[in-house]
Amino acid sequence: MAIQSVGVIGCGLMGHGIAQVAATGGCEVTVVEADPTALDKGVKRIEGSLMKLVEKGKLQATEATAIRNRIHPSTKLSDVAQCDLVVEAIVENLDAKKSLFAELGRITKPSCILASNTSSFPIGEMGDASGRPQRMVGLHFFNPVQLMALVEVVRTTKTEESAFKDAFEFGKRCGKTPVAAKDTPGFIVNRLLVPYLLEAIRMIERGDATPEDIDTAMRLGCGYPMGPLHLLDYVGLDTTQFIADGWERRFPSEPLFKVPGELKDLVKQGRLGRKSGRGYYEWEGDKIKGK
Ligand SMILES: NC(=O)c1ccc[n+]([C@@H]2O[C@H](COP(=O)([O-])OP(=O)(O)OC[C@H]3O[C@@H](n4cnc5c(N)ncnc54)[C@H](O)[C@@H]3O)[C@@H](O)[C@H]2O)c1
Repeated sequence: MAIQSVGVIGCGLMGHGIAQVAATGGCEVTVVEADPTALDKGVKRIEGSLMKLVEKGKLQATEATAIRNRIHPSTKLSDVAQCDLVVEAIVENLDAKKSLFAELGRITKPSCILASNTSSFPIGEMGDASGRPQRMVGLHFFNPVQLMALVEVVRTTKTEESAFKDAFEFGKRCGKTPVAAKDTPGFIVNRLLVPYLLEAIRMIERGDATPEDIDTAMRLGCGYPMGPLHLLDYVGLDTTQFIADGWERRFPSEPLFKVPGELKDLVKQGRLGRKSGRGYYEWEGDKIKGK
């Protein structure tokens, strides 16, 4: 079954991007947001992003209009009842997600595929909450959704093959390269990335090297576009702590998931990185001061 109509729940940082790439792929998209101001802001971001693509000559103005016309903003969850696929992109709170999926399980058609864009929670728990775990997948897009080429398609032990295949094809239709992942903490990217970031912090705690030298080493030694401390600042120290805290609670004996004391201290001090102006580096807007 090819997916034609898509519901996106949440029109924040990720939701507006998912709505845009799905509509660009030709789907009719209903984007539902609880907060009308956030909905308005998200739709304006989509329009701004489409306009930029037109200005850069990457999209015809008529195509941009057609994409925008395929996006139907709403504040009513019942508007996704007839969708073939619903992608959840609300706040990273497991209870909020579970109650949303319980509601989606009640109101959507039985064939509807339910997907979560969560970065850190088990997809299986949300599938169970929906009452339709066989139709549940993870669709983990990356920020900014319009630019990042990857989507992780996550299947649980209960996901039907047809739901997984259709979600995988949907990822391609959104212009992304899908990869198949199991329902394990962090899927593929964050499972490797988060322990790497935490170990970089432990290196600083131990006095092994300075943040600048660790970043230079990983850029020049591994060809990474930015080093781990720069990346931590960019993503937000609080975001990384949030993910690692949850994993440490669930897997207390896994040393890779232990949250370093320095990370907790910096977050307590409000040194969150780019968003607060200071983390491992001092920031001026989107750039490290002096760079
Ligand atoms: N930000 C990232 O870099 C990133 C990357 C990958 C995945 N994710 C995941 O994507 C999800 C969304 O993250 P975000 O950064 O876009 O958050 P965000 O805070 O920017 O957006 C969430 C939006 O959901 C809305 N919302 C909350 N509850 C709702 C409900 N019940 N119904 C409808 N709307 C509701 C909020 O009003 C808000 O506008 C999270 O699960 C996060 O872990 C985030």
